[in-house]
Amino acid sequence: MSVLVTGGTGFIGSHTVVELLEAGYDVVVFDNFYNSKPCVLDRIKQITGKSVKFYEADMCDASAMKKIFAENEIDAVIHFAGLKAVGESVEKPLAYYKNNIGGTVVLCEEMAAAGVKRMVFSSSATVYGDPETVPMREDFPTSATNPYGETKLVIERILADVCVSDPEWSVSCLRYFNPIGAHKSGLIGEDPMGIPNNIMPRIQKVAAGEWDAITIFGNDYDTPDGTGVRDYIHVTDLAQAHIAALKRVYTVKGWECFNIGCGRGYSVLELIDAYSRASGKEIPKVIMPRRPGDIAVSYADPTKAKEVLGWEAKLTLDDMCRDAYNFLLKNPHGYED
Ligand code: UFG
Repeated sequence: MSVLVTGGTGFIGSHTVVELLEAGYDVVVFDNFYNSKPCVLDRIKQITGKSVKFYEADMCDASAMKKIFAENEIDAVIHFAGLKAVGESVEKPLAYYKNNIGGTVVLCEEMAAAGVKRMVFSSSATVYGDPETVPMREDFPTSATNPYGETKLVIERILADVCVSDPEWSVSCLRYFNPIGAHKSGLIGEDPMGIPNNIMPRIQKVAAGEWDAITIFGNDYDTPDGTGVRDYIHVTDLAQAHIAALKRVYTVKGWECFNIGCGRGYSVLELIDAYSRASGKEIPKVIMPRRPGDIAVSYADPTKAKEVLGWEAKLTLDDMCRDAYNFLLKNPHGYED
């Protein structure tokens, strides 16, 4: 019996595959390499000493999905595949709706046809929109401020409807806060294609000497130092949350959602300071206007994940920065095939 990981060569997917293999699961992966590289599979093998069965496939391709379920005894799916850039989603909403929502519908249809009814879904704290208070709890109202966020919200609702329509389904939606860091080996990490949008890969560009300075998007927020506050979480802690959620979908039916964060916020300036300490490098900063669509403060109340899944984040901001920098040192030009 195997776990199918969709988008398993991406940043969070690859770290989750490592944790699955180390926990003794048999793993089947598919990815279309839209935002990842084939060498990630070799890196996973170097870390774990184990191989996964891999398909280069797109979840919108029903016949490819059918083949994967026909050729393997899959009994649960961890679903990461999807487009994930907020700004791009505003420019290309149809691509986001077609790929993320359309692809998930195809995946679920093929799961149902194969009798596979357990899923852990990669959701996002973006489903809380701009909440009135923090920390964010799972029972807060949900809303979307861009097409990417809308796809996460709609997919969560589709999965909830599927669970209502067939009580044999079990789905756990994990609402991630801000994943950063890299595997402690430095073999896998975050290597986005093109110009990165998220703060950590942008800091790494400065540390690598490719960019002169990090832009700080606003220092006039209502926060202690004026810069945006986020709940950064080490990607290995996040990957381990998927193992806990996987155990949950084997034991409990129906739809659930969980916040996956550390439960405390750090400002942009605090993150940059921590990175400077970890790397021994000064990171020059330039203050810019606020980025449209950004909220001031986001951090999780992770109590539900602790109580129900028995999971909590263990690694610190310093660990996240150390491991991100280690990945940069070992891969100064990112993944090279
Ligand atoms: N920031 C900068 N400079 C940069 C990049 C970011 O100051 O060059 C700031 C942002 O303004 C924000 C913080 O750093 O305060 C984090 O920004 P990221 O882009 O790394 O992350 P976001 O919180 O904006 O977005 C993340 C995920 C999204 C998700 C969102 C809400 O990347 O997928 O959280 O959950 F939708």
